[in-house]
Amino acid sequence: MSNSLFSVQDKTVVVTGALGQLGRQFSLSLLKGGAKVALIDIADDCKSLPAKFSDYFDKSRAIYVKSDVTSEASLQSALLDIEDKLGLPFGLINNAALDSPPNANSEDNGPFETFPLDSLEKTMGVNIIGVAKACQIFGSRMAEIGVGSIINIGSIYGMVSPDQSLYDYRRASGEKFYKPVSYSISKSAIYNLTRYLATYWSKNGVRVNTLTFGGVFNNQDNQFLTNYQAKVPLGRMANEDEYNGAVIFLLSQASSYMTGSNMVIDGGWTAW
Ligand SMILES: NC(=O)c1ccc[n+]([C@@H]2O[C@H](COP(=O)([O-])OP(=O)(O)OC[C@H]3O[C@@H](n4cnc5c(N)ncnc54)[C@H](O)[C@@H]3O)[C@@H](O)[C@H]2O)c1
Repeated sequence: MSNSLFSVQDKTVVVTGALGQLGRQFSLSLLKGGAKVALIDIADDCKSLPAKFSDYFDKSRAIYVKSDVTSEASLQSALLDIEDKLGLPFGLINNAALDSPPNANSEDNGPFETFPLDSLEKTMGVNIIGVAKACQIFGSRMAEIGVGSIINIGSIYGMVSPDQSLYDYRRASGEKFYKPVSYSISKSAIYNLTRYLATYWSKNGVRVNTLTFGGVFNNQDNQFLTNYQAKVPLGRMANEDEYNGAVIFLLSQASSYMTGSNMVIDGGWTAW
């Protein structure tokens, strides 16, 4: 593995939102590939992780750092902890985000006309200010060292508008649910943060790219699945492990000429 073009051997990678559905996938596949992983999340502890992580924690290949990406002080202290325990950061996956799944409550996800601006601020706080802060703290350190790769996680809903007809079934049952504008705005902003930093740090050895994902299967209700799948050329949602390869690619030598880009993995959602 260590001589492979796709090697992440011994690279220290910071994953934010690491306890979530995709964060734990990225973390485990990186650990399996020989990377050292700092799992960051806002939860008090990482007891929710499956047992297969234990060995990596025991061997000090992985650490859990409770940290809030909206707090600069919390990220600064995370950096010190990570450098002390796992060494200088090479990779950063800005994965932590607030979203509204199809079964989210309609009080907080109502029509645009009355959409609460404090909810917009809260989402922007995590999904974009939190990403910018993590780039400031971890990315600046990488730029100082002269090497690194940052992956900002985007969504098809930041590239194109959500199709609100997917959620017709909820409105048909009397709930005023709409996929909220906050998620779309925040995920759109990721693209130019990526491009800005890719050019800004281009002489410092730090590459910055966006990975845009389509929806991931997570036991959504059948009406949603039927509606969603009809809009995907590949006819299904992604499985939760289907983005791991792209993460490995962007952190390895295989992507050495790639920066400022947007890699889209969406089963073809944005192709028609
Ligand atoms: N799951 C999907 O269908 C899908 C589709 C497209 C894009 N994405 C994107 O992929 C990424 C991961 O999605 P997911 O489905 O795994 O989400 P998730 O909700 O399962 O996990 C998100 C994690 O972020 C953490 N978090 C929230 N606020 C935080 C904060 N302030 N500081 C630190 N951690 C915080 C949460 O505790 C949670 O563990 C997100 O950026 C999401 O927008 C997901």
